[in-house]
Amino acid sequence: MEKHWWKEAVIYQIYPRSFKDSNADGIGDLKGIISQLDYLQTLGVDVLWLSPIFASPNADNGYDVSDYEAIMADFGTMQDFDELLAQVHKRHLKVILDLVVNHSSDEHRWFRQSRISKDNPYRDYYIWQPPRNGQPPNDWISFFSGSAWEFDPNTEEYYLHLFLKKQPDLNWENPRLRQEIYQMMRFWLDKGVDGFRMDVIPFLSKDTSFPPYPQGRFGDLSLYANGPRIHEFLHEMNSEVLQHYDCLTVGEGFGVSAEQANLYVGRSRQELQMIYHFDHAVPREEHRFLQPAAELSLVELKAIFDRWDEAIGQEGWQNIYFGNHDNPRVLSRFGHTGTHREASAKMLATLLLTLRGTPTIYQGDELGMTNCPFASVEEFDDVQVKNAYQALIVDTNRSHLTDTFLAAANRIARDHARTPMPWDDSAHAGFTTATQPWLKVNPNFTTINAKEAISRPDSIYHYYRQMLHLRKQHSVLVYGDYQNLTPQNPHVWAFVRNVENESVIVICHFSSEERFFSIPNFINLQQRLIGNYQTTIIRGNELQLQPYEAAVWKVKSAQDNEQDSA
Ligand code: GLC
Ligand code: CA
Repeated sequence: MEKHWWKEAVIYQIYPRSFKDSNADGIGDLKGIISQLDYLQTLGVDVLWLSPIFASPNADNGYDVSDYEAIMADFGTMQDFDELLAQVHKRHLKVILDLVVNHSSDEHRWFRQSRISKDNPYRDYYIWQPPRNGQPPNDWISFFSGSAWEFDPNTEEYYLHLFLKKQPDLNWENPRLRQEIYQMMRFWLDKGVDGFRMDVIPFLSKDTSFPPYPQGRFGDLSLYANGPRIHEFLHEMNSEVLQHYDCLTVGEGFGVSAEQANLYVGRSRQELQMIYHFDHAVPREEHRFLQPAAELSLVELKAIFDRWDEAIGQEGWQNIYFGNHDNPRVLSRFGHTGTHREASAKMLATLLLTLRGTPTIYQGDELGMTNCPFASVEEFDDVQVKNAYQALIVDTNRSHLTDTFLAAANRIARDHARTPMPWDDSAHAGFTTATQPWLKVNPNFTTINAKEAISRPDSIYHYYRQMLHLRKQHSVLVYGDYQNLTPQNPHVWAFVRNVENESVIVICHFSSEERFFSIPNFINLQQRLIGNYQTTIIRGNELQLQPYEAAVWKVKSAQDNEQDSA
């Protein structure tokens, strides 16, 4: 297995709007991040992924960029960014930026030009189509409700927007546009940025005949992925830009199946280093706000990761995550938010940091943050919630379904991950000294906050530190292969990681009952490396697992066993 720093690294995702406010306007900013770099260094992560920090009118909180080479006014200045970068590098950390180039903001100067006239030199930077029989070009719908086409009366054509109408899709068919993007990527890399997380990267290439949804798949948003020229574009991006820098690249793999993964990340492909999949993400199409999908069972969750690990094999690499700014809190999905909150958060940390792939920790998960109780639709900020509410309740006069909607949003909304980071138990959790933060603070900040966690040696935060340290000491946790021992067990996920001279078993228990788990007889437990309970109770060849218990044990490897018998 080829060794690379980006395989050994652990990424920490910062949602800058919610991390730390330095100037009392209620919005997190770059100086706020700088002020917490020691916290992140002490935690022991390696790479900071910043969700978009570029100039933006914030229709989708920065995922609508109006100038790719300027800093969002709310977040500070380019000088602040340069300072951040210097401070990060001084601490031997790295920074990756969010490359949002499937679409821009409609306020980007390219789009302002593009919509002026059909012969404007920027016209072809976006995707314009004439009406078909007085209707939009096809039946595609947007991620954020309604048609994916917006009619522009000025030139009497439609432009494509897979997301908001304030997020027009860029036309990657146009080589000039592609060169502008590559130039912009070089601008950041030349500054010293260490790589990119790439927003909805499988969507860049479109079928330019714009066919309607195939029979039976109306509204299937994954069909926007893996267009005809996607690999040509990514290969070009790699040879024009990426391969000239020692940088990290992680693609948001929306719509990519396990079988397709290595087309993006296979060693020989020269496209991306890793992608992250959506197979365990919370489904959030519009109708889910009235009918949320049932949560995955542990057996289903394991099957997803087994499938991906096998598909990636020795050829590619993947990024592992359980939470990000587009999902509710992992603890509220697979852990326990009551008495076993601490144990279950540590168990989930154990899992995240021992599966095969480069892990991303989402901000606040190291404190065991939970979903936030939103009391009304107005308390949400996310445009996805707002648009879904408008479409499902307001436009259709179904106010009697408001409670149903609210209950669903309280399970699946993206805002759960976006509530401000709780730094201490003072007003607004020490996130801001403004009268109001931009989004509600989770009321449990009085007990769940960084100050409390740092002061208590057995906290979730310190467990993360130990896990991160352990990962650095045992390369088997990075390079070892993965073998699931318990695919069918409804409560336990136990797997072996194995490299030439070292093997470990990871045991994660997903329930609040006490349960026995028998160690397969080819496993010879040697030494417990870490665990979320003081000790692991062993009875014969069985472990007596406590609620949400997790442990990593060094085991005698197959090779050791052979040597013993030789
Ligand atoms: C990605 C981002 C999400 C954003 C969307 C549009 O899915 O992660 O937050 O809304 O792309 O840019
Ligand atoms: Ca601020």
